[in-house]
Amino acid sequence: MTVSTAAGTLSGTIPMTGRQRFLAAAQMRPADVTPVWFMRQAGRSLPEYRAMRERHDFMMVATTPELATQATLMPVDRLGVDAAVLFADIMLPLACIGVPFEIRPGVGPVIAAPIRSAADVDRLSHVPAREATPYVMEALRLTKAALGDRAALLGFAGAPFTLACYLIEGKPAREFPRAKALMYGQPEVWHRLMERLTEVTVDYLKAQLAAGADAVQLFDSWLGLLDPNSHAAMVLPYTRRVFAEVAPLAPTIHFSTGTASLLGEIGASGCAVVSVDWRLPLDIAWERLGPHVAIQGNLDPALVLAPWPVVEAGVRDVLKRASGRTGHIFNLGHGILPESDPENLARIVDLVHGEA
Ligand code: CP3
Repeated sequence: MTVSTAAGTLSGTIPMTGRQRFLAAAQMRPADVTPVWFMRQAGRSLPEYRAMRERHDFMMVATTPELATQATLMPVDRLGVDAAVLFADIMLPLACIGVPFEIRPGVGPVIAAPIRSAADVDRLSHVPAREATPYVMEALRLTKAALGDRAALLGFAGAPFTLACYLIEGKPAREFPRAKALMYGQPEVWHRLMERLTEVTVDYLKAQLAAGADAVQLFDSWLGLLDPNSHAAMVLPYTRRVFAEVAPLAPTIHFSTGTASLLGEIGASGCAVVSVDWRLPLDIAWERLGPHVAIQGNLDPALVLAPWPVVEAGVRDVLKRASGRTGHIFNLGHGILPESDPENLARIVDLVHGEA
């Protein structure tokens, strides 16, 4: 049997499992076909998730290991993706610093007592992730046992910058003006907070790997708010520290959007894979990142809402731009839009797997 790969032809090999395929690409080794998964694949686009949410609120699902496991497995069963991302939220590790929060439907994370001063930072508690979020670790153990080798199991955390944005602002915002004002106006408070969030993130990601995650993604969703100088001075040292601690243990993925001007530094931050959005064609983004990192992306999530021939052309364009190189993980440039038709998502998976 002959299997063609992004890097040529593997003769006499049997098809890889989803987990093997994902890990090969994340480590820049040849895979039989391009691995594929979708950010926010376990969520509102799936009718079975919506049915679950009619019975339980979001936090109940996220903090009950059996329910989180079911939600994590839904897209693997329905779509045939090569990675399962744990059903959780970037806000859950706030339990490690004792900050209560609420996830408001249709709005996002809301914090009643935002952080605005050095005293607020000093008041944060220090609880190890294993004790503060035992349900996350249990959900990973249960999911790993149910998943076997079918798909890689991904843990994740919010990056210190994106967590700081929510903690300071107190609620979602378009530009996060209070958070940026504190970063520019009270840099010592900013750095103290980023130190604490870096410690929490490292501990939380390490605990997820110990509980069975095969790889972890760092979500820096709001990083595109920064110019290169502020990024280098206020954020990059912390990102680097997270990857310096975690990357020796397992493949790591950096996620952000709107960061075309920061890609060189992101590529050198110590992660194994960089997730890029659709604002730059994949080949140009990869050139900016450098040849040493793998790349994840980068179909526009809104394209999934178009008729199938348009979706197909978009998928083929992404694959063409990655062609001939190892280290591409197919994904969207950001999360699945809730209006997406799961049928189109399943067809994308089949198309990517069919194109060696
Ligand atoms: O498949 C998956 O990705 C599911 C796991 C997951 C969730 N949130 C579940 C969730 C992941 C990886 C996240 C990450 C997350 N959470 C990010 C980073 C990714 C990104 O999109 O940039 C951010 C910024 C958050 C914060 C957050 N939590 C937001 C903005 C929202 C949406 C609020 C809304 O209702 O529009 C949430 C809630 C949330 N987290 C939902 C899900 C499935 C929707 C809640 C519901 O079921 O109603």
